[in-house]
Amino acid sequence: MKDLLLTNNLTKAFGGLVAVNEVSLTIRENTFTLLIGPNGCGKTTLLNVCTGVLRPDGGEVKLEGKDITGWSPESIYELGFVRTFQIPMPFLSLTVLDNVLSAMRNPGESPLKAIAKRTWVKEEEKNVERALEILWRVGLSREWDKPAYSLGGAQLKMLEISRSLASGAKLVALDEPIGGVDPIYADEILTYITSLKSYGLTFLVIEHRIDIAAPYADYAYAMDRGSVISQGKPQDVLNDPKVVEVYLG
Ligand SMILES: Nc1ncnc2c1ncn2[C@@H]1O[C@H](COP(=O)(O)OP(=O)(O)OP(=O)(O)O)[C@@H](O)[C@H]1O
Ligand SMILES: [Mg+2]
Repeated sequence: MKDLLLTNNLTKAFGGLVAVNEVSLTIRENTFTLLIGPNGCGKTTLLNVCTGVLRPDGGEVKLEGKDITGWSPESIYELGFVRTFQIPMPFLSLTVLDNVLSAMRNPGESPLKAIAKRTWVKEEEKNVERALEILWRVGLSREWDKPAYSLGGAQLKMLEISRSLASGAKLVALDEPIGGVDPIYADEILTYITSLKSYGLTFLVIEHRIDIAAPYADYAYAMDRGSVISQGKPQDVLNDPKVVEVYLG
């Protein structure tokens, strides 16, 4: 398995507060890597520094061996490292299918315009086919012609993920994908995420509900006060006394 994302001693401070302190991670291709840690330990900041939303104060970020440290979010997105909020939010009044089409990067002529004018050309037909296949993969094929506003919370999350898929992402970073979602749907979302690995996708997932998320992950990192305190198989990380102490203490 190839290393997809690598951080080396990545550091980010806000004034005197070192939110991310010399963090070194390796995300392997085609895996689901879980990032856990108590509130304020630096998980989101780490993601922001990796995806170009914030500039690091030290260290480096490499994607497929390419040094992307300090790159703009747009350039990192172009390389296929996608944080779901980097893709424009779903248009609630558009259909599910149109939402997926609008996230595609090779729309030729704007697919939306093309559909409106009914000027179906090969390119658009291919895009529609691809979009429908993506919707099938995330369990939304029966919803394809419904407006996005009619979807439930879990379905909207899947629509968000299907849009990153449509954008051609290789690595998708999700900040609390099951936050606030009913446990039954949480399992459904995680099952779909796991199944998307077989299409070549890699996931970096921040979650607080670690008991629900851990069984789906291949690897886990735990952070505390800006630093990585444990890494390895999710269950081993959860049982690591250092991690237990952080959560109990
Ligand atoms: N833009 C900012 N300016 C100043 N301080 C910040 C900023 N963003 C985050 N912080 C601080 O950096 C630390 C890490 O925050 P971060 O949001 O990365 O934590 P987190 O692990 O994502 O927490 P949570 O689990 O609550 O989402 C916190 O102390 C937070 O208050
Ligand atoms: Mg956070």
